[in-house]
Amino acid sequence: METRQLQDLDHRHLWHPFTHMKQWMEDPPLVIVAAEGMELIDSDGNRYLDGISSLWCNVHGHRVKHIDQAIRDQLDRVAHSTMLGLASEPAILLGERLMRIVPGNLKKVFYSDAGATAAEIAFKLAVQYWHNVGRPEKNEFVGLAEAYHGDTTGAMSVGRTTAFHKPYFPLLFKAHFAPTPFVYRPPAGVDADATPDQVRDFCLSELERILREHGGRLAAIAVEPVVQGAAGMIVQPEGYLRQVRRLATRYEVLLICDEVATGFGRTGRMFAVEHEQVQPDLMCVAKGITGGYLPLAATFATQKIFDAFLGQPTEGRTFYHGHTYTGNPLACAAALANLDLFEEQNLVHQVEQKGVELGGLLQTLQPLKHVGDIRRKGLMVGIELVEDKASRKPFDPRRRTGAEVCRRMRSHGIILRPLADTLVLMPPLAMGMDHLRRIVDALRVEIHRLESSAQP
Ligand SMILES: Cc1ncc(COP(=O)(O)O)c(C=O)c1O
Repeated sequence: METRQLQDLDHRHLWHPFTHMKQWMEDPPLVIVAAEGMELIDSDGNRYLDGISSLWCNVHGHRVKHIDQAIRDQLDRVAHSTMLGLASEPAILLGERLMRIVPGNLKKVFYSDAGATAAEIAFKLAVQYWHNVGRPEKNEFVGLAEAYHGDTTGAMSVGRTTAFHKPYFPLLFKAHFAPTPFVYRPPAGVDADATPDQVRDFCLSELERILREHGGRLAAIAVEPVVQGAAGMIVQPEGYLRQVRRLATRYEVLLICDEVATGFGRTGRMFAVEHEQVQPDLMCVAKGITGGYLPLAATFATQKIFDAFLGQPTEGRTFYHGHTYTGNPLACAAALANLDLFEEQNLVHQVEQKGVELGGLLQTLQPLKHVGDIRRKGLMVGIELVEDKASRKPFDPRRRTGAEVCRRMRSHGIILRPLADTLVLMPPLAMGMDHLRRIVDALRVEIHRLESSAQP
């Protein structure tokens, strides 16, 4: 179909996620019709580097032969069968394979189909665990301020992002919020120039205060380990997560690590918890699990948690939760092929190395007038743009500076999407240095352009 027709039909019928639809309707959308390797191809044949890995999930690039073939092979067997009352070969094989790479204390996998459902399942498991072991009063949560665990009601309750979720606040269940250890913009009560250690220690003492006061009613602490993604790629100070683990154990509260964004090599370890040698009680993954091909998510639990759900059907210990496409065979086949490629290419090691090299390139942006802070872990990058560097004063949000820079990146053949005025770079993990260099060079041009334009 002609580009113009597709654009008209999109405007007429579609409602896009996380999108200001009024602005969306003002411009003809870019319509993606194909992809190859690191590039997305639009309906006019233009090519764009996929700088956000199709929303933080693509791993090896697009149309990867091995994954394509695995899905086709599975298609010749069965596209979908239910896991309610039946077992499924790809789901079994994937479960065994995942157990080889997740932290050793995690022994069971519960599949679903999105990051939000993986988080939702972790929260429900935590509450029912305490119920099943005779402590039903432990049903509240601690989250981090501005955390993001997805857009279902439970996920919004624990990851309460004011900008996204404010209208729903009356619907959300009770949660306590500990300050985020954000060094560039420290929480109230910490000096603006505090060191990472000072920020970390303050945030931990606040967390401990909550645990001391409410521990008897708390089911779990939920954190995005090492990097708090949607809040602006906030990299936690070293040692923070380790201490959160220690506090969770001390106050008898489960630790849920949401690895939806950080998992599958993104931070230079297979899972971010490995940076801090932390073993969570529950862990959520999604996005990269299928190499960014198909919707699949997983929530991992310890044997101790699993055992608390065993009993006679009449005892009410069962986990009554499931989705129609839980453990979909095509998605599991893609995930298995994805893991083959991780192994064959020693990809996690590559990410760590490329991350360091990318870090060097990004440093060349630091002197630019409007670059306030550059945050990176592995291939997870946030570049925060500010109006005034000395005072860290943000741009007026009405200028939508981050969105405008990303829009202009398209003329360089690059797709990026910001988080407010933090430019996000989340390339497919297999993206080479030549492409990464091209992205940083284009960023330099477009961020520099802000200096000369009163109105970006
Ligand atoms: C840490 C984290 N958890 C959960 C989610 C929600 O994932 P999904 O969009 O697949 O529901 C995201 C999405 O960005 C995320 O970053």
